[in-house]
Amino acid sequence: MILSDLEIKEALNSISSEVLNGQNFSRKAFARSIINYPAMMIPSVQEPIIKSLADAFQGEVSLFDPFMGASNTLVTGMKYGFNVFGQDINPLSLLISQVKTTYYSWEELKEAENSLRNKVSIDSSSNREIHFQNIDKWFKAEIQIELSKLKRAIESEPSLKIRKFCWVALAEVVRLTSNDRTSTFKMHIRSNIDVQSRNLSAVETFFTILKRSIKDIHDYCSLLFKNGLIEDNKYKKFAEVSWGDSMESVNTDKTFNLLVTSPPYGDNQTTVTYGQFSYLPLQWLPIEDIDVNITMSYLKTMQEIDTNSLGGKMIPKYQENAEMLFDKSETLKQLFDSFDSVDKKRARKVINFFHDLDKSIDKISTKLSRGAFMVWTIGNRNVNKRVVRNDLILTELLYSKQVELIADLDRDILSKRMPSRNSFSETMSKEKILIFKTVISA
Ligand SMILES: C[S@@+](CC[C@H](N)C(=O)[O-])C[C@H]1O[C@@H](n2cnc3c(N)ncnc32)[C@H](O)[C@@H]1O
Repeated sequence: MILSDLEIKEALNSISSEVLNGQNFSRKAFARSIINYPAMMIPSVQEPIIKSLADAFQGEVSLFDPFMGASNTLVTGMKYGFNVFGQDINPLSLLISQVKTTYYSWEELKEAENSLRNKVSIDSSSNREIHFQNIDKWFKAEIQIELSKLKRAIESEPSLKIRKFCWVALAEVVRLTSNDRTSTFKMHIRSNIDVQSRNLSAVETFFTILKRSIKDIHDYCSLLFKNGLIEDNKYKKFAEVSWGDSMESVNTDKTFNLLVTSPPYGDNQTTVTYGQFSYLPLQWLPIEDIDVNITMSYLKTMQEIDTNSLGGKMIPKYQENAEMLFDKSETLKQLFDSFDSVDKKRARKVINFFHDLDKSIDKISTKLSRGAFMVWTIGNRNVNKRVVRNDLILTELLYSKQVELIADLDRDILSKRMPSRNSFSETMSKEKILIFKTVISA
Protein backbone atom coordinates (compact mmCIF):
# COMPACT_ATOMS: atom_id res chain seq x y z
CA MET A 1 0.00 0.00 0.00
CA ILE A 2 1.41 3.40 -0.98
CA LEU A 3 0.25 6.34 1.09
CA SER A 4 -0.10 9.95 -0.03
CA ASP A 5 1.44 12.77 2.04
CA LEU A 6 -1.96 13.54 3.49
CA GLU A 7 -2.55 9.93 4.48
CA ILE A 8 0.89 9.84 6.06
CA LYS A 9 0.11 12.94 8.13
CA GLU A 10 -3.15 11.33 9.26
CA ALA A 11 -1.40 8.08 10.14
CA LEU A 12 1.27 9.92 12.13
CA ASN A 13 -1.25 12.07 13.97
CA SER A 14 -3.28 9.02 14.92
CA ILE A 15 -0.44 7.40 16.91
CA SER A 16 -1.69 7.22 20.48
CA SER A 17 -0.05 9.10 23.32
CA GLU A 18 0.47 5.77 25.17
CA VAL A 19 2.65 4.57 22.31
CA LEU A 20 4.49 7.90 21.98
CA ASN A 21 5.12 8.04 25.71
CA GLY A 22 6.60 4.57 25.59
CA GLN A 23 4.08 3.13 28.02
CA ASN A 24 3.92 -0.16 26.14
CA PHE A 25 7.66 -0.46 25.88
CA SER A 26 9.61 -3.52 26.92
CA ARG A 27 13.13 -2.82 28.17
CA LYS A 28 14.36 -6.13 26.80
CA ALA A 29 12.88 -5.96 23.30
CA PHE A 30 15.24 -5.18 20.39
CA ALA A 31 18.23 -6.11 22.60
CA ARG A 32 17.98 -2.62 24.09
CA SER A 33 19.16 -3.69 27.53
CA ILE A 34 22.42 -5.41 26.57
CA ILE A 35 24.09 -2.17 27.62
CA ASN A 36 23.10 1.16 29.05
CA TYR A 37 23.91 4.11 26.83
CA PRO A 38 22.85 7.72 27.45
CA ALA A 39 19.59 8.98 25.95
CA MET A 40 18.61 5.79 24.14
CA MET A 41 15.59 5.94 21.89
CA ILE A 42 12.69 3.62 22.46
CA PRO A 43 12.05 1.27 19.52
CA SER A 44 8.33 0.89 20.21
CA VAL A 45 7.96 4.69 19.92
CA GLN A 46 9.83 4.85 16.61
CA GLU A 47 8.16 1.76 15.19
CA PRO A 48 4.71 3.10 14.18
CA ILE A 49 6.35 6.27 12.80
CA ILE A 50 8.82 4.56 10.54
CA LYS A 51 6.20 2.04 9.51
CA SER A 52 3.82 4.81 8.39
CA LEU A 53 6.62 6.50 6.46
CA ALA A 54 7.79 3.26 4.88
CA ASP A 55 4.31 2.84 3.45
CA ALA A 56 4.97 5.94 1.34
CA PHE A 57 7.70 4.25 -0.68
CA GLN A 58 7.27 1.94 -3.59
CA GLY A 59 10.63 0.24 -3.42
CA GLU A 60 13.05 -0.61 -0.68
CA VAL A 61 13.44 1.50 2.42
CA SER A 62 16.98 2.61 3.28
CA LEU A 63 17.29 4.09 6.74
CA PHE A 64 20.14 6.28 7.97
CA ASP A 65 21.00 7.42 11.50
CA PRO A 66 23.98 9.83 11.61
CA PHE A 67 23.96 9.89 15.44
CA MET A 68 23.25 6.23 16.01
CA GLY A 69 24.19 5.88 19.72
CA ALA A 70 23.13 2.41 20.77
CA SER A 71 21.55 1.87 17.32
CA ASN A 72 17.99 1.51 18.53
CA THR A 73 16.64 3.07 15.34
CA LEU A 74 18.73 0.79 13.13
CA VAL A 75 17.47 -2.38 14.79
CA THR A 76 13.89 -1.10 14.57
CA GLY A 77 14.39 -0.64 10.82
CA MET A 78 15.92 -4.11 10.52
CA LYS A 79 12.76 -5.65 11.95
CA TYR A 80 10.99 -4.43 8.80
CA GLY A 81 13.75 -5.54 6.44
CA PHE A 82 15.10 -2.05 5.70
CA ASN A 83 18.64 -1.39 4.52
CA VAL A 84 20.28 0.43 7.42
CA PHE A 85 23.36 2.57 7.90
CA GLY A 86 24.51 4.34 11.04
CA GLN A 87 27.41 6.46 12.11
CA ASP A 88 28.67 7.84 15.43
CA ILE A 89 31.77 9.56 16.73
CA ASN A 90 31.91 7.48 19.90
CA PRO A 91 33.84 4.19 19.51
CA LEU A 92 31.64 2.59 22.19
CA SER A 93 28.54 3.39 20.15
CA LEU A 94 30.20 1.74 17.15
CA LEU A 95 30.96 -1.46 19.08
CA ILE A 96 27.41 -1.70 20.47
CA SER A 97 26.00 -1.09 16.99
CA GLN A 98 28.28 -3.65 15.34
CA VAL A 99 26.91 -6.24 17.76
CA LYS A 100 23.27 -5.24 17.49
CA THR A 101 23.28 -5.29 13.69
CA THR A 102 24.92 -8.74 13.52
CA TYR A 103 23.10 -12.08 13.51
CA TYR A 104 24.13 -14.39 16.37
CA SER A 105 22.92 -17.93 16.86
CA TRP A 106 22.00 -19.19 20.33
CA GLU A 107 24.46 -22.08 19.98
CA GLU A 108 27.52 -19.96 19.19
CA LEU A 109 26.79 -17.62 22.11
CA LYS A 110 26.17 -20.44 24.59
CA GLU A 111 29.36 -22.15 23.49
CA ALA A 112 31.25 -18.88 24.03
CA GLU A 113 29.74 -18.48 27.49
CA ASN A 114 30.89 -21.98 28.52
CA SER A 115 34.33 -21.48 27.08
CA LEU A 116 34.74 -18.16 28.92
CA ARG A 117 33.57 -19.68 32.19
CA ASN A 118 36.22 -22.40 31.88
CA LYS A 119 38.98 -19.96 31.00
CA VAL A 120 38.18 -17.59 33.85
CA SER A 121 37.85 -20.39 36.40
CA ILE A 122 41.35 -21.74 35.72
CA ASP A 123 43.03 -18.32 35.49
CA SER A 124 44.81 -17.82 38.81
CA SER A 125 46.92 -14.86 37.70
CA SER A 126 46.63 -11.62 39.60
CA ASN A 127 48.20 -9.59 36.79
CA ARG A 128 46.49 -6.34 35.96
CA GLU A 129 46.12 -5.84 32.23
CA ILE A 130 45.20 -2.16 32.18
CA HIS A 131 47.16 0.83 33.42
CA PHE A 132 46.18 4.45 33.13
CA GLN A 133 46.52 7.52 35.27
CA ASN A 134 44.28 7.33 38.33
CA ILE A 135 43.14 3.79 37.66
CA ASP A 136 43.24 3.06 41.41
CA LYS A 137 40.85 5.91 41.99
CA TRP A 138 38.29 4.43 39.60
CA PHE A 139 38.68 0.70 40.31
CA LYS A 140 39.40 -1.24 43.48
CA ALA A 141 42.44 -3.55 43.18
CA GLU A 142 40.34 -6.75 43.34
CA ILE A 143 38.04 -5.45 40.60
CA GLN A 144 41.05 -4.68 38.38
CA ILE A 145 42.27 -8.26 38.86
CA GLU A 146 38.88 -9.75 38.01
CA LEU A 147 38.36 -7.49 35.00
CA SER A 148 41.83 -8.52 33.81
CA LYS A 149 40.89 -12.21 33.97
CA LEU A 150 37.79 -11.49 31.90
CA LYS A 151 39.81 -9.45 29.44
CA ARG A 152 42.36 -12.27 28.96
CA ALA A 153 39.58 -14.82 28.49
CA ILE A 154 37.79 -12.70 25.87
CA GLU A 155 41.04 -11.93 24.04
CA SER A 156 41.71 -15.62 23.63
CA GLU A 157 38.36 -16.23 21.87
CA PRO A 158 39.20 -16.97 18.21
CA SER A 159 36.11 -15.34 16.67
CA LEU A 160 36.09 -11.53 16.35
CA LYS A 161 32.30 -11.55 16.17
CA ILE A 162 32.11 -13.36 19.52
CA ARG A 163 34.76 -11.14 21.08
CA LYS A 164 32.76 -8.05 20.12
CA PHE A 165 29.68 -9.47 21.83
CA CYS A 166 31.69 -10.18 24.98
CA TRP A 167 33.34 -6.74 24.94
CA VAL A 168 29.89 -5.14 25.10
CA ALA A 169 29.07 -7.21 28.19
CA LEU A 170 32.44 -6.29 29.67
CA ALA A 171 31.82 -2.59 28.98
CA GLU A 172 28.64 -2.77 31.04
CA VAL A 173 30.47 -4.61 33.84
CA VAL A 174 33.22 -1.97 33.88
CA ARG A 175 30.61 0.72 34.34
CA LEU A 176 28.81 -1.15 37.10
CA THR A 177 31.88 -2.22 39.06
CA SER A 178 33.94 0.97 38.83
CA ASN A 179 33.86 3.61 41.56
CA ASP A 180 32.04 6.00 39.25
CA ARG A 181 28.47 6.87 40.28
CA THR A 182 25.98 5.39 37.87
CA SER A 183 23.41 8.09 38.64
CA THR A 184 24.99 10.65 36.28
CA PHE A 185 26.50 10.38 32.80
CA LYS A 186 29.37 12.62 33.84
CA MET A 187 32.19 10.92 35.72
CA HIS A 188 31.69 11.46 39.41
CA ILE A 189 33.54 9.44 42.05
CA ARG A 190 31.62 7.66 44.81
CA SER A 191 32.34 8.59 48.41
CA ASN A 192 35.03 6.62 50.23
CA ILE A 193 32.48 4.98 52.51
CA ASP A 194 30.39 3.98 49.52
CA VAL A 195 33.42 2.52 47.71
CA GLN A 196 34.50 0.50 50.76
CA SER A 197 31.04 -0.82 51.49
CA ARG A 198 30.40 -2.09 47.96
CA ASN A 199 31.16 -5.75 47.69
CA LEU A 200 30.91 -6.64 44.04
CA SER A 201 32.40 -9.40 41.94
CA ALA A 202 33.21 -8.33 38.38
CA VAL A 203 33.27 -11.98 37.28
CA GLU A 204 29.83 -12.78 38.70
CA THR A 205 28.38 -9.54 37.33
CA PHE A 206 29.86 -10.35 33.92
CA PHE A 207 28.28 -13.79 33.68
CA THR A 208 24.91 -12.48 34.87
CA ILE A 209 25.00 -9.80 32.19
CA LEU A 210 26.34 -12.14 29.52
CA LYS A 211 23.53 -14.63 30.16
CA ARG A 212 20.89 -11.89 29.99
CA SER A 213 22.43 -10.40 26.83
CA ILE A 214 22.53 -13.78 25.11
CA LYS A 215 18.82 -14.17 25.75
CA ASP A 216 17.99 -10.62 24.60
CA ILE A 217 20.04 -10.89 21.41
CA HIS A 218 18.62 -14.33 20.74
CA ASP A 219 15.06 -13.00 21.09
CA TYR A 220 15.80 -10.18 18.64
CA CYS A 221 17.62 -12.43 16.15
CA SER A 222 14.73 -14.94 16.33
CA LEU A 223 12.36 -12.13 15.39
CA LEU A 224 14.47 -11.33 12.31
CA PHE A 225 14.56 -15.02 11.46
CA LYS A 226 10.79 -15.35 11.85
CA ASN A 227 10.34 -12.35 9.55
CA GLY A 228 12.35 -14.18 6.86
CA LEU A 229 15.23 -11.71 7.07
CA ILE A 230 18.08 -14.10 7.83
CA GLU A 231 19.83 -16.04 5.09
CA ASP A 232 23.03 -18.07 5.55
CA ASN A 233 23.26 -16.81 9.14
CA LYS A 234 23.25 -13.18 8.02
CA TYR A 235 20.78 -10.31 7.77
CA LYS A 236 19.84 -10.47 4.13
CA LYS A 237 19.68 -6.71 3.54
CA PHE A 238 22.39 -4.10 3.87
CA ALA A 239 23.32 -3.25 7.50
CA GLU A 240 26.44 -1.22 8.08
CA VAL A 241 27.75 0.96 10.87
CA SER A 242 30.71 3.29 10.83
CA TRP A 243 32.83 5.41 13.10
CA GLY A 244 32.84 9.03 12.01
CA ASP A 245 32.12 12.66 12.67
CA SER A 246 28.83 13.40 10.90
CA MET A 247 29.78 17.05 10.79
CA GLU A 248 32.76 16.25 8.56
CA SER A 249 31.68 13.31 6.42
CA VAL A 250 29.26 10.44 6.04
CA ASN A 251 31.16 7.24 5.35
CA THR A 252 29.02 5.55 2.77
CA ASP A 253 28.37 5.84 -0.95
CA LYS A 254 24.76 4.74 -0.52
CA THR A 255 21.74 7.06 -0.52
CA PHE A 256 18.76 6.87 1.80
CA ASN A 257 15.07 7.68 1.67
CA LEU A 258 14.51 7.72 5.43
CA LEU A 259 16.53 9.46 8.10
CA VAL A 260 15.64 8.62 11.69
CA THR A 261 17.78 10.16 14.35
CA SER A 262 18.12 11.81 17.72
CA PRO A 263 21.07 14.20 17.87
CA PRO A 264 22.62 15.46 21.08
CA TYR A 265 20.53 18.37 22.42
CA GLY A 266 23.49 20.68 23.01
CA ASP A 267 24.04 19.50 26.57
CA ASN A 268 26.53 16.81 25.59
CA GLN A 269 29.39 18.77 27.17
CA THR A 270 27.65 19.27 30.47
CA THR A 271 24.87 16.82 31.31
CA VAL A 272 24.43 14.05 28.79
CA THR A 273 28.13 13.45 28.28
CA TYR A 274 28.23 10.48 25.92
CA GLY A 275 32.03 10.53 25.87
CA GLN A 276 32.65 10.69 29.61
CA PHE A 277 30.11 7.93 30.07
CA SER A 278 32.19 5.74 27.75
CA TYR A 279 35.65 6.68 29.06
CA LEU A 280 36.12 3.91 31.64
CA PRO A 281 34.63 1.09 29.52
CA LEU A 282 36.80 2.13 26.56
CA GLN A 283 39.95 1.85 28.70
CA TRP A 284 39.34 -1.92 28.84
CA LEU A 285 38.43 -2.54 25.19
CA PRO A 286 41.07 -3.16 22.50
CA ILE A 287 40.56 -0.71 19.67
CA GLU A 288 41.76 -3.24 17.09
CA ASP A 289 38.65 -5.31 17.89
CA ILE A 290 36.36 -2.32 17.27
CA ASP A 291 37.81 -0.59 14.22
CA VAL A 292 41.42 0.06 13.30
CA ASN A 293 40.37 3.14 11.32
CA ILE A 294 39.47 5.14 14.42
CA THR A 295 41.87 8.08 14.36
CA MET A 296 40.71 10.04 17.41
CA SER A 297 42.89 9.61 20.52
CA TYR A 298 39.74 9.14 22.54
CA LEU A 299 41.49 8.18 25.78
CA LYS A 300 43.69 11.27 25.91
CA THR A 301 41.37 12.93 28.40
CA MET A 302 37.97 12.15 29.89
CA GLN A 303 36.52 14.93 27.72
CA GLU A 304 38.15 13.99 24.42
CA ILE A 305 35.10 12.43 22.75
CA ASP A 306 32.76 15.16 24.00
CA THR A 307 35.14 17.88 22.80
CA ASN A 308 35.10 16.34 19.33
CA SER A 309 31.31 15.92 19.35
CA LEU A 310 28.68 18.46 18.25
CA GLY A 311 29.17 21.79 20.00
CA GLY A 312 32.38 20.68 21.71
CA LYS A 313 34.74 23.28 20.24
CA MET A 314 34.81 27.01 19.67
CA ILE A 315 33.88 27.62 16.06
CA PRO A 316 36.12 29.56 13.69
CA LYS A 317 34.96 32.95 12.30
CA TYR A 318 32.46 33.19 15.12
CA GLN A 319 30.75 36.47 14.15
CA GLU A 320 30.32 35.52 10.52
CA ASN A 321 29.00 32.05 11.33
CA ALA A 322 26.64 33.36 14.01
CA GLU A 323 25.15 35.85 11.52
CA MET A 324 24.66 33.07 8.98
CA LEU A 325 22.77 31.04 11.56
CA PHE A 326 20.63 34.03 12.56
CA ASP A 327 19.65 34.47 8.91
CA LYS A 328 18.33 30.93 8.97
CA SER A 329 16.75 30.93 12.42
CA GLU A 330 14.92 33.90 13.89
CA THR A 331 14.32 31.92 17.09
CA LEU A 332 18.06 31.49 17.60
CA LYS A 333 18.64 35.17 16.99
CA GLN A 334 15.98 36.19 19.50
CA LEU A 335 17.42 33.83 22.07
CA PHE A 336 20.92 35.21 21.53
CA ASP A 337 19.69 38.80 21.81
CA SER A 338 18.02 38.00 25.12
CA PHE A 339 21.38 37.18 26.77
CA ASP A 340 23.16 40.12 28.39
CA SER A 341 26.88 40.61 27.85
CA VAL A 342 27.81 38.55 30.93
CA ASP A 343 25.73 35.61 29.72
CA LYS A 344 26.98 35.90 26.14
CA LYS A 345 29.67 33.31 26.90
CA ARG A 346 26.99 30.73 27.56
CA ALA A 347 25.09 31.89 24.50
CA ARG A 348 28.24 31.37 22.45
CA LYS A 349 28.22 27.69 23.34
CA VAL A 350 24.67 27.45 22.04
CA ILE A 351 25.86 29.01 18.79
CA ASN A 352 28.76 26.54 18.58
CA PHE A 353 26.30 23.70 18.91
CA PHE A 354 23.89 24.95 16.23
CA HIS A 355 26.77 25.71 13.90
CA ASP A 356 27.86 22.07 14.18
CA LEU A 357 24.33 20.73 13.87
CA ASP A 358 23.76 22.86 10.77
CA LYS A 359 27.02 21.63 9.27
CA SER A 360 26.00 18.03 9.97
CA ILE A 361 22.63 18.56 8.28
CA ASP A 362 24.46 19.72 5.13
CA LYS A 363 26.63 16.60 5.12
CA ILE A 364 23.72 14.31 5.91
CA SER A 365 21.53 15.85 3.18
CA THR A 366 23.99 14.82 0.47
CA LYS A 367 23.08 11.22 1.29
CA LEU A 368 19.32 11.63 1.07
CA SER A 369 17.25 11.07 -2.05
CA ARG A 370 14.65 13.61 -3.24
CA GLY A 371 11.46 13.22 -1.26
CA ALA A 372 13.22 11.47 1.60
CA PHE A 373 11.59 11.70 5.01
CA MET A 374 13.42 12.78 8.14
CA VAL A 375 12.40 11.92 11.69
CA TRP A 376 14.19 13.97 14.34
CA THR A 377 13.59 13.31 18.03
CA ILE A 378 14.67 16.36 19.94
CA GLY A 379 13.99 18.02 23.30
CA ASN A 380 14.43 21.57 24.47
CA ARG A 381 16.81 22.55 27.25
CA ASN A 382 17.60 25.41 29.57
CA VAL A 383 20.59 27.73 29.41
CA ASN A 384 20.76 30.45 32.05
CA LYS A 385 17.08 30.00 32.83
CA ARG A 386 16.11 30.48 29.20
CA VAL A 387 14.52 27.70 27.20
CA VAL A 388 16.48 26.84 24.09
CA ARG A 389 13.78 25.83 21.62
CA ASN A 390 15.77 23.14 19.86
CA ASP A 391 12.59 22.03 18.08
CA LEU A 392 11.89 25.44 16.53
CA ILE A 393 15.52 26.16 15.70
CA LEU A 394 15.95 22.79 13.99
CA THR A 395 12.73 23.33 12.04
CA GLU A 396 13.95 26.75 10.87
CA LEU A 397 17.39 25.44 9.92
CA LEU A 398 15.81 22.67 7.88
CA TYR A 399 13.28 25.02 6.31
CA SER A 400 16.18 27.12 5.02
CA LYS A 401 17.32 23.98 3.18
CA GLN A 402 13.96 23.32 1.52
CA VAL A 403 12.87 20.75 4.06
CA GLU A 404 9.27 20.96 5.18
CA LEU A 405 7.80 19.95 8.52
CA ILE A 406 4.89 17.58 7.97
CA ALA A 407 4.08 16.43 11.50
CA ASP A 408 5.02 17.38 15.00
CA LEU A 409 4.41 14.83 17.76
CA ASP A 410 4.90 15.36 21.49
CA ARG A 411 6.00 12.74 23.93
CA ASP A 412 6.47 12.72 27.68
CA ILE A 413 9.83 11.48 28.85
CA LEU A 414 9.22 8.83 31.43
CA SER A 415 12.81 7.66 31.80
CA LYS A 416 14.29 8.00 35.26
CA ARG A 417 17.78 8.11 33.77
CA MET A 418 17.34 11.65 32.49
CA PRO A 419 16.62 13.60 35.69
CA SER A 420 19.22 16.31 35.42
CA ARG A 421 18.46 16.95 31.77
CA ASN A 422 14.79 17.37 32.31
CA SER A 423 14.12 18.58 35.80
CA PHE A 424 14.15 22.29 34.96
CA SER A 425 10.54 22.85 34.06
CA GLU A 426 7.47 21.38 32.46
CA THR A 427 8.85 21.82 28.95
CA MET A 428 11.91 19.78 29.83
CA SER A 429 9.93 16.63 30.47
CA LYS A 430 8.70 16.63 26.90
CA GLU A 431 10.37 15.59 23.73
CA LYS A 432 9.32 16.34 20.18
CA ILE A 433 9.33 13.97 17.29
CA LEU A 434 9.50 16.13 14.19
CA ILE A 435 8.80 14.59 10.82
CA PHE A 436 10.00 16.38 7.69
CA LYS A 437 9.99 15.82 3.96
CA THR A 438 13.04 16.89 2.01
CA VAL A 439 11.37 18.59 -0.94
CA ILE A 440 8.65 21.15 -0.38
CA SER A 441 5.63 20.08 -2.36
CA ALA A 442 4.00 22.55 -4.75
C1 LIG B 1 20.90 10.93 21.50
S1 LIG B 1 22.30 9.94 21.09
C2 LIG B 1 21.63 8.86 19.93
C3 LIG B 1 20.72 7.88 20.57
C4 LIG B 1 20.37 6.74 19.68
N1 LIG B 1 19.43 7.12 18.66
C5 LIG B 1 19.89 5.57 20.50
O1 LIG B 1 18.73 5.18 20.38
O2 LIG B 1 20.68 5.05 21.27
C6 LIG B 1 23.32 11.05 20.20
C7 LIG B 1 24.61 10.44 19.65
O3 LIG B 1 25.25 11.44 18.84
C8 LIG B 1 26.63 11.15 18.86
N2 LIG B 1 27.39 12.30 18.30
C9 LIG B 1 27.65 13.50 18.86
N3 LIG B 1 28.36 14.28 18.02
C10 LIG B 1 28.55 13.54 16.89
C11 LIG B 1 29.20 13.79 15.64
N4 LIG B 1 29.80 14.96 15.40
N5 LIG B 1 29.19 12.82 14.71
C12 LIG B 1 28.57 11.63 14.94
N6 LIG B 1 27.96 11.34 16.10
C13 LIG B 1 27.94 12.29 17.06
C14 LIG B 1 26.90 10.83 20.31
O4 LIG B 1 28.11 10.11 20.45
C15 LIG B 1 25.65 10.02 20.68
O5 LIG B 1 25.90 8.65 20.58
